[in-house]
Amino acid sequence: MTSNTTNEIDIVRASTSKIDAVDFENLTFGNIFTDHMLICDYKNGAWEKPLIKPYEPFLIDPSAKVFHYGQAIFEGMKAYKDENDAVWLFRPDENHKRFNHSAKRLAMPEIPEEIFINGLHEILKIEKDWVKKGKGNSLYIRPFMIAIGTGVIAQPSTQYRFMIILSPARSYYSGEVKVIIAEHYSRAANGGIGAAKAAGNYSAQFYPTKLANEKGFQQIIWTDDATHTKLEEAGTMNLFFRIKDTLYTAPTSERILDGVTRKSLIEIAKKEGIAVEVRSVLVSELIEASKDGSLMEIFGAGTAAVVNPVVGFSYQDTYYELPKLENSFALLLKEKLTNIQYKIDDDTFGWTVKV
Ligand code: COI
Repeated sequence: MTSNTTNEIDIVRASTSKIDAVDFENLTFGNIFTDHMLICDYKNGAWEKPLIKPYEPFLIDPSAKVFHYGQAIFEGMKAYKDENDAVWLFRPDENHKRFNHSAKRLAMPEIPEEIFINGLHEILKIEKDWVKKGKGNSLYIRPFMIAIGTGVIAQPSTQYRFMIILSPARSYYSGEVKVIIAEHYSRAANGGIGAAKAAGNYSAQFYPTKLANEKGFQQIIWTDDATHTKLEEAGTMNLFFRIKDTLYTAPTSERILDGVTRKSLIEIAKKEGIAVEVRSVLVSELIEASKDGSLMEIFGAGTAAVVNPVVGFSYQDTYYELPKLENSFALLLKEKLTNIQYKIDDDTFGWTVKV
């Protein structure tokens, strides 16, 4: 191992790399991690100096609050490589902003830009060989924060650990995505933590999603908890509905995550001359549109999932199939978005940031 330091970050380099053992053509999402991780602790009311070190397990006290009260938040981001071998981030400031929004909601300390953004740049410089060229290849970035303070009293921790780990990624879903519209379970409620990227938002979905998986569906379309009449998000993705030639997506709220891919697609769609309406779509409206043939597409949008067409949905045990289209908005928007991310097209929005 070799050590060096920047003004802001200590670095201990791994003496060997796992990279040659990785089959980059056959990746299962989120299973393999790169050689290094960033770690930064918060103690006595302040963030300590971050350290980039070899990826390895670490010890935490069994009474740490993350285990008992789920005080944990995360972000999902990706790094892309262009044809000239430069590595790029996509709107990292948005992830930093949302991370701090989540931190506040979970009574955790906000993290300064010097740690979050500089940390990303420093670790990506070290791991640049893990970002493979070519559309579809990316390095998934998982910044997260956990409460490591000890004691099972139900109060916020006074000690936290911020980390960044990296995982080479291709697609999130390996095949067609069919969804069930939620009639009983809910992902989030007004006043709750649905708008935060809190770990518990995801574990709360595991059981209903397992039931959906058993019926042959990959995901659930969550509806509003109060009436189960409004279509919200899919848990790993925000949702877009195309009825005739208008795209609809639910407004972000206390129940819906403010997705970076979602807001980027809205802007790209408008630039492409596609009519976009940010408003709730009712379940009844979707069923009606499916029956009269005006429902053209449903697709999810998220960092991990990118833009993922839904092939069909189930509601009250009836399955509705989506038409197969020549002029799919999902495919057009995916192409435009990824052309920006991989630096194939000019980034007229100013969203890409060079590492
Ligand atoms: C992402 O898209 O980055 C997410 O955080 C969703 C996650 C469940 C993979």
